[in-house]
Amino acid sequence: MHTDVNKILITREGLADRVQQLGREMTTLYLGLDSPLIIITVLNGSMVFMADLIRHMPITMNLGVLGVSSYAGATTRSQGAKIVMQLDTDIRDRHVLVIDDILDTGNTLRLIHEDLGKLKPASLRTAVLLRKPARAPSDVTVEFIGFDIEDRFVVGYGLDFDGRYRNLPYIGVLKPDCYQASAAGTEPAGRTM
Ligand code: IMP
Ligand code: MG
Repeated sequence: MHTDVNKILITREGLADRVQQLGREMTTLYLGLDSPLIIITVLNGSMVFMADLIRHMPITMNLGVLGVSSYAGATTRSQGAKIVMQLDTDIRDRHVLVIDDILDTGNTLRLIHEDLGKLKPASLRTAVLLRKPARAPSDVTVEFIGFDIEDRFVVGYGLDFDGRYRNLPYIGVLKPDCYQASAAGTEPAGRTM
């Protein structure tokens, strides 16, 4: 285990099993579309999840990316989100599945749903690897959830603090001293890009 990690919340094996299961559910749902499914990955946190997931989906698909940045407000928690890299794919009349790392305050996905909805896809669904039910708002709908987790700041399997730890093969709780120096003891604001 990395020395900056307090405990492992989800093991490598636990992730692999659940991601395979999600891939199978999605395959069943999207099998037989008349055009390729469009998978949109929200950079950077969802890259690892997406890469593992699509290899359990033996259906025709196109990949697109979207860059969203969360920024800190008064509380140092994510207080808003903005699109910093526009969608590179035409999604009109296409079936779209958005892949995001974590549903926390919901600011990121609310913005994405609004923006993509305007582009008139045939359908728009979302998968998140993690959700913090204690914080997730009721107005942001996600169709696929990997794991519900406690309200702790986690890293690994794509999720970062200050751009680090994305390559850990598990989801772990970051030791408070690793972010206390920069944020006066409060948890860090999430950053997607
Ligand atoms: P939101 O608060 O739902 O908009 O989430 C914003 C972004 O913050 C997520 O996409 C993540 O990139 C990041 N984030 C939220 N919670 C965590 C966490 O516990 N660890 C790492 N990143 C997080
Ligand atoms: Mg993110």
